[in-house]
Amino acid sequence: EKGGYEHFMLKEIMEQPGAVKATIAPRIKEGKVVFEELGLTASEIGEIRKIIITACGSAYYAGCAGKYAIEKLCRIPVEVVLASELRYSDPLIDNRTLVIVISQSGETADTIAALKECKAKGARTLAVVNVVGSTVAKLADYTVYTWAGPEIAVATTKGYTTQVTVLYLLAVYFAGQLGRTEGEDRKLLTALQALPRQIQQAFDLNASIPALAKKYHASKSLFFIGRNTDYAIALEGALKMKEISYLHAEAYAAGELKHGTIALIEEHQPVIALCGNPAIMEKTLSNIVEVKSRGAEVLALTFRNNQKIVSVADDLLFIPKIDALFSAVVEIVPLQLLAYYVARENGCDIDKPKNLAKSVTVE
Ligand code: F6R
Repeated sequence: EKGGYEHFMLKEIMEQPGAVKATIAPRIKEGKVVFEELGLTASEIGEIRKIIITACGSAYYAGCAGKYAIEKLCRIPVEVVLASELRYSDPLIDNRTLVIVISQSGETADTIAALKECKAKGARTLAVVNVVGSTVAKLADYTVYTWAGPEIAVATTKGYTTQVTVLYLLAVYFAGQLGRTEGEDRKLLTALQALPRQIQQAFDLNASIPALAKKYHASKSLFFIGRNTDYAIALEGALKMKEISYLHAEAYAAGELKHGTIALIEEHQPVIALCGNPAIMEKTLSNIVEVKSRGAEVLALTFRNNQKIVSVADDLLFIPKIDALFSAVVEIVPLQLLAYYVARENGCDIDKPKNLAKSVTVE
């Protein structure tokens, strides 16, 4: 059942090229992104003034990553709100608000409650769900399925990457309907269709991860830093590390370091620096230099030929050259593998971490 892998988590990590491909393929027809399951006309999409994305845990972090692509391509403001907060916050929502609810299981109690609250306030609701026929899928006005297949490991991997993939597809689709992709359609589609192959390349580029896990597994804590899209990915990378390896891990927007956290950087403190977004990389580089000057051990995640970063880091994780707009699906992969091998090194129960359930059906 584990297909020769030691754990479901590793099997599911390795299934990601196929899962992302299965999620993209039915939504591309005749050189365009299509969503037959959405009953929204172009003029209804044009009426949307605000998008709220709500979810819990990794699904929330998927929303954080997707926000950049939606705002950049559609120029509609996107708020990403934790479902457990949204449900009690009397949110500002009306019939020109589109609420996107993300859930792998479709049974998360807080997510269901947030969805009901938004519906009651008159929002249009769109669910991004993996489990067919689940409660979230049934309650929402529209449901877009992630075709990840069954996810058994408690820590989500292919669930997360397919959720982000759907948000990227929706970003391109809405932008197209709004007439904002003129002349760009082909480039955007090519970038989306390259994702499964690039995930495979991310596997191939990181054979050194089991050895890196041996170096970092006994760390007291790990900091993950990045800016913009790299920051969103850092949040999910830190969560993966925490939940399966039980190491303290924290993600920071790199620019926030000097507003407090830098006080914690001392000799040999591991800092995982995400540098997958060329537009902002120089800024993250300066943060790397800052933490290194305080003795930090820097594990940088970047492109192989990125000499500036490669020459200053102590250790490296690699990604192939990717479009920063759609980077999360590929860039998270080395961090999933790092969390997996660190947890394995520490003898943790990887598929069933302590205190966690696959589907959180109570508040
Ligand atoms: C982390 C993880 C959880 C879930 C969260 C939401 O690896 O799996 O944080 O992402 O409990 O679950 P769903 O997506 O089923 O609503």
